[in-house]
Amino acid sequence: MAVLLTGGTGKTSVRIGRLLQDAKIPFLLASRRGEAAAPSGMPATHFNWLDSSTFANPFQHRFPGGEGISAIYLITPQVTDPTSVMTAFVDYAVKEHGVNRFVLMAGSTTEPGELQVGRVWQHLLDIGVEYCVLRPTWFMENLSEGIHCATVRNEGKIYTACGDGKISFVSASDIAAVAFRALTDEKPHNTDYRVLGPELLTYDEVAAKLSSCLGREITHVNLTDEHRAQRLMSVGVPEYFAKRLAFLEVSAANGGENRMNDVVERVTGRPPQTFDAFAQQCKTAWE
Ligand SMILES: NC(=O)c1ccc[n+]([C@@H]2O[C@H](COP(=O)([O-])OP(=O)(O)OC[C@H]3O[C@@H](n4cnc5c(N)ncnc54)[C@H](OP(=O)(O)O)[C@@H]3O)[C@@H](O)[C@H]2O)c1
Repeated sequence: MAVLLTGGTGKTSVRIGRLLQDAKIPFLLASRRGEAAAPSGMPATHFNWLDSSTFANPFQHRFPGGEGISAIYLITPQVTDPTSVMTAFVDYAVKEHGVNRFVLMAGSTTEPGELQVGRVWQHLLDIGVEYCVLRPTWFMENLSEGIHCATVRNEGKIYTACGDGKISFVSASDIAAVAFRALTDEKPHNTDYRVLGPELLTYDEVAAKLSSCLGREITHVNLTDEHRAQRLMSVGVPEYFAKRLAFLEVSAANGGENRMNDVVERVTGRPPQTFDAFAQQCKTAWE
């Protein structure tokens, strides 16, 4: 078997790639930047969801031992509606290349058939392939590699509209470990998983943990949804996503992410990483 990882230069795919490397399972990273942005030693190809002429590229890759792609990890492109391009690629992979397993990254609030990625989920159900849908809560890595990294490092501040909402922040490594199992286990998972971390934390508590880890004060600044969206737009986030993110943060403020489960341990056999362990590991991101 060989695994294709779309979103190939992103937080979860690179981590899945490392797990596949350790397990000696052939894989290929696929993204617009392809080889130019892939970690050294990881095979990659140019692939753009918005350009169907690149859909064949991953299937032209020669894997060791002549393996063919049998499972695909799907990361949506940031467009207002990715449904048609994603379902077109899934259909192409199934019909032209016999791929029969897909692991789809969604969000904790995604439901089958609803809004964008939920419609891709529904498509996987409709065509009857082996599937797994990941519905993680907010990633810890938003603080070290994503939207909050620069403000923590440069201003000692985390800006959100999450208020006192509790969130079971999860590490991208744990999401990758769940995805790895869903992609490679002989028996298909054919389910969805809410992928959650080990403790419920507010952003005030996250800021306090970062303060004690870094030895300097980090504070959480709570914004209204409107101010949060404006702030995101001011750093280049397109209006639609800025508003969507602000909406999701307000949902978290209202208890939308206040839940725990044992999915990571159940699927991977080990407990999820704590926020303190994550912060110690990523300290250099904020120095
Ligand atoms: N962050 C969170 O807290 C959170 C929580 C729940 C769910 N999620 C979901 O997680 C997903 C993101 O996963 P991630 O964090 O692993 O990825 P990521 O770090 O956000 O990276 C996105 C990847 O997609 C690629 N990409 C973007 N546009 C593309 C296009 N048009 N064609 C091909 N590739 C494209 C990018 O590479 P190139 O630039 O090289 O193309 C990059 O590799 C999103 O669907 C998000 O909704 C995130």
